[in-house]
Amino acid sequence: MKFRLSVIISVLALIAVAALAGRHYWTMVQGDRQEAAIGGPFTLINSEGETVTDADFRGKIMLVYFGYTYCPDVCPTSLTAVAEALDMLGEDAKEFAPIFITVDPERDTPEAMGDYAAAFHPQLVGLTGTVEQVAAAAKAYRVYFAKVQEEGDDPEDYLMDHSAYIYVMDRDGKYVAHFPHGTDPGEMAKKLLELL
Ligand code: NI
Repeated sequence: MKFRLSVIISVLALIAVAALAGRHYWTMVQGDRQEAAIGGPFTLINSEGETVTDADFRGKIMLVYFGYTYCPDVCPTSLTAVAEALDMLGEDAKEFAPIFITVDPERDTPEAMGDYAAAFHPQLVGLTGTVEQVAAAAKAYRVYFAKVQEEGDDPEDYLMDHSAYIYVMDRDGKYVAHFPHGTDPGEMAKKLLELL
């Protein structure tokens, strides 16, 4: 009896370890049901100055990234990776709606967002809004952002600290997964194909 119990405990421990390892992997790739609260409704302004909501993207798999056009490094790198991944998907790219939401609505006008987004990929949608609209969207996606200003600098001359995840939302707008900054575009394309 004692022997059997120890075997059972060992087997259970192995299953637990395997489950944890698997869970860690899938959190990156496929998401975790407990993270299902990421995302939600948003109301923002597109490059034409029109109001758009998350509901306008239903039926497409959204790739949502928050950043700002003055970003010196991180945003261009992430958006380039998204653009390259989409290009690798060929025709399947049309199943996705890549969306770039500014965390700097004071400087990022609708027009600036449109021009900036178009420079990365023809499908990329740039969205801005009022300070309140942007804050609400960022909160829904649990995105951190903060203005960083050096004392004595021009008030217009500041950086934005921001989290840099690419959120993958399914055709119903529900969270599926997120890619951390620095994800290889080929890897991204592979995971995105698995969602089709
Ligand atoms: Ni950035």
